[in-house]
Amino acid sequence: MIKKMTISSIQKAKGKTPLVMITAYDALFASLFESSCDMILVGDSLNMSFAGKSDTLSATMEQMLYHTKAVCNGAKNSFIICDMPFGTYTNKSDALMNSIKVFQQTEADCVKIEGGTEKADIVKHLTSNGIAVCGHIGLLPQSVRSEGGYKVKGKTNAECLSLIADARAIEDAGAFCLVIEGVKADVAEEVASSVDIPVIGIGSGANVDGQVLVFSDMLGLFEEFTPKFVKKYVDGAKIVREAVDKYADEVKSKEFPQEIHTY
Ligand code: KIV
Repeated sequence: MIKKMTISSIQKAKGKTPLVMITAYDALFASLFESSCDMILVGDSLNMSFAGKSDTLSATMEQMLYHTKAVCNGAKNSFIICDMPFGTYTNKSDALMNSIKVFQQTEADCVKIEGGTEKADIVKHLTSNGIAVCGHIGLLPQSVRSEGGYKVKGKTNAECLSLIADARAIEDAGAFCLVIEGVKADVAEEVASSVDIPVIGIGSGANVDGQVLVFSDMLGLFEEFTPKFVKKYVDGAKIVREAVDKYADEVKSKEFPQEIHTY
């Protein structure tokens, strides 16, 4: 029996055991990740790797609710995070209304919101209304168009100070943990040691409180591009292609199905 993480056990892990987070978008993969990972993120990255779009911006609330329900069905013993899509938390009342949908329509344990100091009042509004929040600072995929690309953060002293201020503002607003993405490793380490909540890194080096990867990247299934920080643990695309090629060949040659596959 897998013991489900709680906000309290996640927070207690800081400085002790690195936390393992992975994305999932459906019940099948979520069920495979459950025994190894502490937290499953239903990331809006599904808009790229699942829906085939070039960025996350067009992901909708309906999509996130659908996929979060599926992940919750497949991983009943996992701590599940639902990413709030672009445009659904631009003000306090929209943020609360949409987060309530997540809590009422799915079994997710918290929502994730991109942004630092500028989003602190929204995080505060959610946490003071019973919504658990995971923050997300550094490189913000939902800002890709306004920033003109995916830009690594923490390259200057000013950026370092601003990231520390972001992390503190999100912590003070009541977030129980935060994701830090695309930040220089030494700066991410400094950010992690500036707050008491766990800081989970993606492309932000080893000296933070845990790591998150997009599952289709680390399983080698997403071939469009591979960021430098991704480690491919298996060449999933090659394995799948070879298996499906073999299936197609066997159907054509009538090698499949055989007696054992027949009623
Ligand atoms: O959407 C997502 O998968 C994420 C991760 C990159 C952290 O936000």
